[in-house]
Amino acid sequence: MSSSAPPPTLMVARIEKLRPADLHDLGDAAEQAIRDGGGFGWLEAPTRDLMERYWRGVVLIPDRSLYVGRLDGVIGGSVQLVRPPRNNEAQAHTAALTTCFVAPWARGHGLARRLVQAAEAEARKTGVLVLNLDVRATQEPAVRLFESLGFVCWGRHPYYARVLGEAVAGCYYYKDLSESPP
Ligand SMILES: CC(C)(COP(=O)(O)OP(=O)(O)OC[C@H]1O[C@@H](n2cnc3c(N)ncnc32)[C@H](O)[C@@H]1OP(=O)(O)O)[C@@H](O)C(=O)NCCC(=O)NCCS
Repeated sequence: MSSSAPPPTLMVARIEKLRPADLHDLGDAAEQAIRDGGGFGWLEAPTRDLMERYWRGVVLIPDRSLYVGRLDGVIGGSVQLVRPPRNNEAQAHTAALTTCFVAPWARGHGLARRLVQAAEAEARKTGVLVLNLDVRATQEPAVRLFESLGFVCWGRHPYYARVLGEAVAGCYYYKDLSESPP
């Protein structure tokens, strides 16, 4: 008889109001991802107060959508879809994906893939034609994820980031949504 646990339930949704429990889970997940090597801009986890102020700020910013991914109801990761400011008419057809992360305990279940797909679906629905993103070249799982989802690397910046006093290269990606079916 097999004793393997049933697969966890995944849920991904845009979140516009953060309840205290969600804020707490999101803070925990981000902190764990940062301690694990991040990819989230922060090299060291900020204080809990700063972290919570960051997430409260994210949901207030116009033209920015926050998606969270839950594993059995607990937030384990997120991604943000950011549109250019209204004055930038020349780039009104674009949006960027940023701050994509999944906490170590929630990885390997397809949560990041679902998060990126949900943000991409909103981009398509709102008329975005080109989706951009950038990532440290050393974040190999992320590079694999984005390439498997059809993002095209158009450039590499040798001094993209600085970690422990060393330059780290970055990869710049785009996805032409008008050319690729959902
Ligand atoms: C990258 C990251 C978001 C992936 O999260 P995840 O939920 O485990 O990813 P998924 O389970 O959805 O996997 C989707 C795809 O990503 C790639 N991938 C994920 N983990 C991988 C790993 N350890 N090694 C190689 N590829 C990996 C694979 O292509 C995978 O597809 P497959 O399962 O069909 O092989 C997570 O590892 C993370 O948060 N890393 C640190 C932060 C970061 O790099 N963020 C991106 C920069 S903004």
